[in-house]
Amino acid sequence: MPLATPDTVVSDAYGPGFRSLSSEVHNRRPPVEGTIPDWLSGTLIRNGPGRFEVGDTRVNHWFDGLAMVRRYDFADGEFRYSNRFLRTGAYADAMDGRLTGQFGTDTRGWRRLLDTVRSLGLPEPTDNTNVHVVRIDGEYVALTEAPRRVAFDPETLETRGEFAFEDDLPEHSTAAHLVDDPAREEVVGFSTQFGRTPQYHLYRVPRGSRHRERIASVEANGPAYIHDCSVTTDHVIVVETPLVLSVLQALNPFSEGAMDMLQWDTDRETRILVVDRDTGELVADPTLDPAFCFHHVNAFVDDSEGGGPRDRPTASGDVVLDLVEFPDGSIVDAMSMAELDGDGFPAVPDARLVRYRVDPATNAVDRSVLYPGGMELPRVTREAIGGRHRYAYGQATDRDGANGLVKVDCETGTAREWWEQSVYVEEPVPVRHPDADSADDGVVLATALDVDRGQTLLLVFDAATLAVQARAFLPHAEPFGFHGRYFADL
Ligand SMILES: [Fe+2]
Repeated sequence: MPLATPDTVVSDAYGPGFRSLSSEVHNRRPPVEGTIPDWLSGTLIRNGPGRFEVGDTRVNHWFDGLAMVRRYDFADGEFRYSNRFLRTGAYADAMDGRLTGQFGTDTRGWRRLLDTVRSLGLPEPTDNTNVHVVRIDGEYVALTEAPRRVAFDPETLETRGEFAFEDDLPEHSTAAHLVDDPAREEVVGFSTQFGRTPQYHLYRVPRGSRHRERIASVEANGPAYIHDCSVTTDHVIVVETPLVLSVLQALNPFSEGAMDMLQWDTDRETRILVVDRDTGELVADPTLDPAFCFHHVNAFVDDSEGGGPRDRPTASGDVVLDLVEFPDGSIVDAMSMAELDGDGFPAVPDARLVRYRVDPATNAVDRSVLYPGGMELPRVTREAIGGRHRYAYGQATDRDGANGLVKVDCETGTAREWWEQSVYVEEPVPVRHPDADSADDGVVLATALDVDRGQTLLLVFDAATLAVQARAFLPHAEPFGFHGRYFADL
């Protein structure tokens, strides 16, 4: 895959969403239309790529843009905005004119990859931590899928330096998504170890610790490229899809990055790994027809009488997992810059919100579509994590010339949508009212690129009705980001 040059990059459909940003601002107070609720007191911190080229060279993959953290702060009905690039090794290389990537861009050539894969390792991992953020042991940490982490100041967004866990958990690749479980006061994640017997290592990090405690190690098929996981009160769940990390593929001398290690293996099924969170026992591992997913919504144990469509209550209860599912792994290639720089979003199928209902007693799984519209970047409120959620919020992806916001009632299958032409809503983050008396009492925060204005908006929606309560006009267009978290107290 040749490197694209900057004159090939501007997408008519998305405008600045995939264009580099150079400006950094601190504690700006952008103009706001509408009213930000007085009770909303906290900070949304998001992460994502902010710069896509160095000199004449452009990254091959959206996932490879330089990490830029963004801060949206709410207090006393007022709003402040900051953005700043992480000063990582990858950033320093870029400033020196060297482009180093990891996912789809390996400018150091295939030989390094070949050498390292031969020794069953991976290329030197990047510190371009542009995917997500988490708070661990009081540190605010930027994450990616390479096993490097970068700490930053949540007020100034200044880079503090590399963050290291204080353990020796093996990891060749890792999850940028960590589940923040407020009920158990721990975050849960996993790493993948390559080798003769590849394994997924599931772990927890208790609040106040930076030591990962191993919950279980599960033998991997593939191993697969896994992006996210879920917890119930009693389980950790990962979904192993047929999108595998192929070492053979990486030995191909034309390979240019980790993306070329990804291979859709038509002989495989999708396997759901349900692990007891306390004992580490693999309590179920049913398989389904092939499907791919980046993102889980949430999971819970269904203890209700006759729960589920088969009216089949069990002693321990079904394990219910909601996620957004693609029919195959073609979405990963579709995120390459060459595709995104074309005329609009590549023609790959949208993800759909589905429910997997696993019966640990029989190792059976039932799959149903909860909402037939296109949906990605799904979220539930922090309070709902691991328990029965009623509402899932996500980006509505099946409009032409816009991405909307969708709210799905997972009990009734009904949905509400908000969208405006030429406005591209990013990941919505629901924030519950502190004295909420219903599951959707609160707001949903979402950034959205207004292509016509050439400007990103911060939208505050009523979480019940999706009415826009406030719209703040940021001082520039942010390149599309990935994920963020809302912190009620920094
Ligand atoms: Fe993600």
